[in-house]
Amino acid sequence: MEAPAARSHPELEEIFSDVEAPFAFVDLDAMWANADRMLERAGEKPIRVATKSLRCRPLIELVLDRNERFRGLMTFTLPETLWLADRGMENLLLAYPTTNLEALGELALRSVASPGLAPVVMVDCVEHLDIVESVLGSQASPVRLCLELDAAFWAFGGRLKAGTLRSPIHSPEDAVALAEEIGRRDKLELVGLMAYEGQIAGLGDHIPGRPLRSRAIRSMKKKSRVEIAERRAETVAKIREVAPIEFVNGGGTGSLESTAAEEAVTEVAAGSGFFAPGQFDHYSNFTLSPAAGFALPVVRRPAPRVVTALGGGYLASGPLDPGRMPVPWLPEGFEFEDDEGAGEVQTPLVGDAADDLAIGDNVYLRHAKAGELCERFKSLILIEGNEIVDEVPTYRGEGETFL
Ligand SMILES: Cc1ncc(COP(=O)(O)O)c(C=O)c1O
Repeated sequence: MEAPAARSHPELEEIFSDVEAPFAFVDLDAMWANADRMLERAGEKPIRVATKSLRCRPLIELVLDRNERFRGLMTFTLPETLWLADRGMENLLLAYPTTNLEALGELALRSVASPGLAPVVMVDCVEHLDIVESVLGSQASPVRLCLELDAAFWAFGGRLKAGTLRSPIHSPEDAVALAEEIGRRDKLELVGLMAYEGQIAGLGDHIPGRPLRSRAIRSMKKKSRVEIAERRAETVAKIREVAPIEFVNGGGTGSLESTAAEEAVTEVAAGSGFFAPGQFDHYSNFTLSPAAGFALPVVRRPAPRVVTALGGGYLASGPLDPGRMPVPWLPEGFEFEDDEGAGEVQTPLVGDAADDLAIGDNVYLRHAKAGELCERFKSLILIEGNEIVDEVPTYRGEGETFL
């Protein structure tokens, strides 16, 4: 599918003329174009859909129905995973270790009820195994586990790290030792390996106004791609000698082509690419179409070239940097005001376009991250062409706030 033409402010104002702001929306034309680009970048490999980056059940279902290569879900908490399973979702991989004993107890029951089909949980140390085992009764079916390999890039003899600080399992030998430990425990079964190279998948490398930093990131990514491909292949080969794992998951929206190209990888993960939030605007290897946004009403005109909108302070998680701010989208050319930024109840926006807006008009912004937008709104209005085609509840709209 061709990338749709960029949306304009008058077009969005016309589409949403009967809707009261604030509201959030998803442009399905852009989302499906993004989905096609992700499938293309992933070669022939299936894409496990990262639910944290969608946080909207009806949209997750639409994505899974769209193409059979969108296969399985990568979930973010065990209560969320069980909630999705209760609503008919299958092939669930919980990507982050859990210490929730109550939910683990429930998972153990389901492992008995549907052996081989219950969600898979992430582990990276013996304590995780002990915690899972602590809730198991005398049931026969083992709980299915995935081992996470650290995919960060450690330079200068381990003194400089690019990537996430998650799993302590770095070498193939570390991984085999834990796999063997799992093998010694009757009620645990190792079924997968996951390694997420966030320093490639989640880090923009074509940042406006930062040519030197961009070049340094691209150079790091190039080295890291080679390093993780070798280490992952060796780890997978050695693990397969001790456990017949079913899948090897890797990557994310920003690394689909390089992760999928590794023979050892059987599936890639992605979520953010559907919505294409602000943080995915600046990559050298792909472009996406903005697909999710939110509208704020203009409620004041405090000075020439300024409008003040209601709400807007929907900052993204992560380190303190301006990239966590929402991105003013339409009309074009707006910037936040230095002293106020995106405010709790009021957000001034500065730019020439202000003089063409009246009180009661909307301004449109995008969140810096994908799924976090849904923690601010109960529903997403879906648009296609120049029409509203549906309105669907977010996790929050269904009364759930998992994280
Ligand atoms: C384990 C794991 N895999 C994959 C991803 C990629 O998700 P996305 O495509 O939404 O960036 C993430 C994101 O943080 C992750 O934590």
